[in-house]
Amino acid sequence: MAEPKKLFIKTYGCQMNVYDSERMAEALGGQGYVETQSADDADMILLNTCHIREKAAEKVYSELGRFKGLKAAKPDLKIGVAGCVAQAEGEEIMRRQPMVDLVVGPQSYHRLPELEARAGGGAKALDTDFPEEDKFERLKSRPKSARGPTAFLTVQEGCDKFCAFCVVPYTRGAEVSRPAERVLSEARDLVERGVREITLLGQNVNAYHGAGGDGDWSLARLIRELAKVDGLERIRFTTSHPNDMDDELIAAHGEVDKLMPYLHLPVQSGSDRILKRMNRKHTSESYIRLIERIRAARPDILMSGDFIVGFPEETEEDFAATMALVEEVRYGQCYSFKYSSRPGTPAAERALVDPAAADDRLHRLQALLTRQQREIQDAMVGRETRVLFEREGRVAGQMAGKSEHLHAVHVTADGIARGDLRRVRITESNPNSLSAVLV
Ligand code: SAH
Ligand code: SF4
Ligand code: F3S
Repeated sequence: MAEPKKLFIKTYGCQMNVYDSERMAEALGGQGYVETQSADDADMILLNTCHIREKAAEKVYSELGRFKGLKAAKPDLKIGVAGCVAQAEGEEIMRRQPMVDLVVGPQSYHRLPELEARAGGGAKALDTDFPEEDKFERLKSRPKSARGPTAFLTVQEGCDKFCAFCVVPYTRGAEVSRPAERVLSEARDLVERGVREITLLGQNVNAYHGAGGDGDWSLARLIRELAKVDGLERIRFTTSHPNDMDDELIAAHGEVDKLMPYLHLPVQSGSDRILKRMNRKHTSESYIRLIERIRAARPDILMSGDFIVGFPEETEEDFAATMALVEEVRYGQCYSFKYSSRPGTPAAERALVDPAAADDRLHRLQALLTRQQREIQDAMVGRETRVLFEREGRVAGQMAGKSEHLHAVHVTADGIARGDLRRVRITESNPNSLSAVLV
């Protein structure tokens, strides 16, 4: 039998890219590739890239530069670029980095086996189509290997919202939902292989409207059906848009035990003037009222969000409105970014705010968010929660996992196995995790 070829995949960007990387590895598995953790001994290197901010996109070129030596030493080595940078700048990548053999976009990677066969030895392959066929259907047959206790499952892709700053509608295309039955069967398959927690993914996952047996299913309906799968203990979903948070989904947060009390609901800014310029189609007031309704359904829910500071024309007053919104919501987790101008987006035409002012705002916002996160984490001390243990901790005898609220938790005790779901009491809050004891 031929020696298996080695595939090294490096993943940037969001969880959907993590999911896609797994699928690409499976697709290439059929071509005789096994995954390796090091680029040095690889026969193929695949970068699964992110285009969301300039820094993320530029990283691809510097990363490729690092492979020059490898390619010179091993001319058979195939180098591929996948993901959102591939979609946005595929031709430019080929031009700027002649060592790249293959470029494949996020909607056509089910064709990787054909592309891989075509590329190499000087031949190039590029596919950034948005094909009609369902790539997930084409990728369905996968090896039934065991896997860890948590998994991502993409249920919805693309975006029709066109926020003025964002490349996603261009790199991922229009909003598409996977049929409900396919999602359920993939979930059952994951559970058979040892998965106990599934995070449903989509760029706007709560806009999900996949075909079910009796018409289109909402995300809430999908979650309720998933909750009936024996052996599946936890359900999460990300990322949600405030405008797609319907009553049914809010109710599910209060009624479905397996749905975890954590919600990532980006708002981007607290200023209505800026929200309007961002084309977000909600106000800070409507967002705050929405969170009140969610908290009425599930009082202990942990809120998470995304913010952009320094959006074109953002004034100190606009920024003060963002700080006020954060004070009011109290986030348990948050991601905040300095605005990055992206080619092809409407906001790229507008004048930037002074970069020093934007940096200063980002620091102030992050200080506030870090303080809130820490306060909410500290308030867990003394409480009981359930932890799904995922791996061994850094210290001998220690196991690490996630709480219901997605906090990292460490427990030192005998007899805890990977995949165990155990009741614990939180004893201590550390900078990036909680310590706990079994109860
Ligand atoms: N679909 C999700 C977000 C996907 S992108 C949503 O609408 O909530 C993840 C985050 O990256 C965004 O929420 C936003 O905060 C940030 N982001 C997107 N484009 C950006 C840009 N041009 N500059 C800085 N941050 C950006
Ligand atoms: Fe981007 Fe807005 Fe779509 Fe989110 S909703 S992916 S920020 S365009
Ligand atoms: Fe990045 Fe594409 Fe995800 S731009 S954030 S990898 S959808």
